[in-house]
Amino acid sequence: MTEFINSQFVKDMCDITRQSYDNGWDERNGGNMSIRITADELKDYNDVKEVRRTFDLGFDASAVAGQYFLVTATGRYFRNVFQRTKKDLGLVRISDDGKKGEIVWGYEDGALPTSEFPTHLMNHIARLKLDPNQRVVMHCHVTNLIAMSFTQPLDEKYFSKTIWKMQAESMPVLPEGLGIIPYETPGTTIIGKHTAAKITNGFRVVMWPHHGMFAVGDTPDECFGLIETVEKAATIFTAIQAQGGNRLDEITDKQLVEIAKYFHVTPRKGFLD
Ligand code: 13P
Ligand code: ZN
Repeated sequence: MTEFINSQFVKDMCDITRQSYDNGWDERNGGNMSIRITADELKDYNDVKEVRRTFDLGFDASAVAGQYFLVTATGRYFRNVFQRTKKDLGLVRISDDGKKGEIVWGYEDGALPTSEFPTHLMNHIARLKLDPNQRVVMHCHVTNLIAMSFTQPLDEKYFSKTIWKMQAESMPVLPEGLGIIPYETPGTTIIGKHTAAKITNGFRVVMWPHHGMFAVGDTPDECFGLIETVEKAATIFTAIQAQGGNRLDEITDKQLVEIAKYFHVTPRKGFLD
């Protein structure tokens, strides 16, 4: 019988947390990640059958009752997940009434899921309504996008167009643009509610001003790919500013429309002139 630690889910989590740390996006305990897993996908793993501890979720998660989430622990470091896997990751089943998390694997030294777990769940639930293949939620502290949230107007159309114009291939990756919520205290359910409203509105990446980025996706690669594309655009923007800020040439709105047509994607309505 296979052990859960050897599953692709755990491998993906170790891989992405390590890469995100190496990119400089997860100082100390910054960032968190979750992967939704069905009961059927766990049937061959013997070591995830028993509930070891439970905790209150603090909101009604009955929309995902009976489903499982592999989640990074609160206060733990992305830098360490690949080595301290059974301590810094946990597998949580959502109880049948949707009120409790049931820990069935991991968090071996008494850890608990990320403080953003209610936010992750709210956004898994919101995205599942638009995309039944939704699997992954990731939050991290990307340097250049955070910096832009101090210097640029917090306007979704402005930010989305800026990201599209920084590199020719932002548009096919993120045609719906970037959602932005107001600044909120980390770990609160109000962040979760504001973010879920953006996810419901079709955004897959949401900026948390002065804090970081939040993204959803069908696979770890897709979710991470969204984050790195937005952060790459923000890095190019930062380099342009460092070179004096003058743009002698740039991708026009018309050229963005041509890129969208070529890649068969539809840019968010109202964002292009
Ligand atoms: P956790 O350690 O609870 O995951 O918090 C990190 C974080 O980035 C909160 O936004
Ligand atoms: Zn954070």
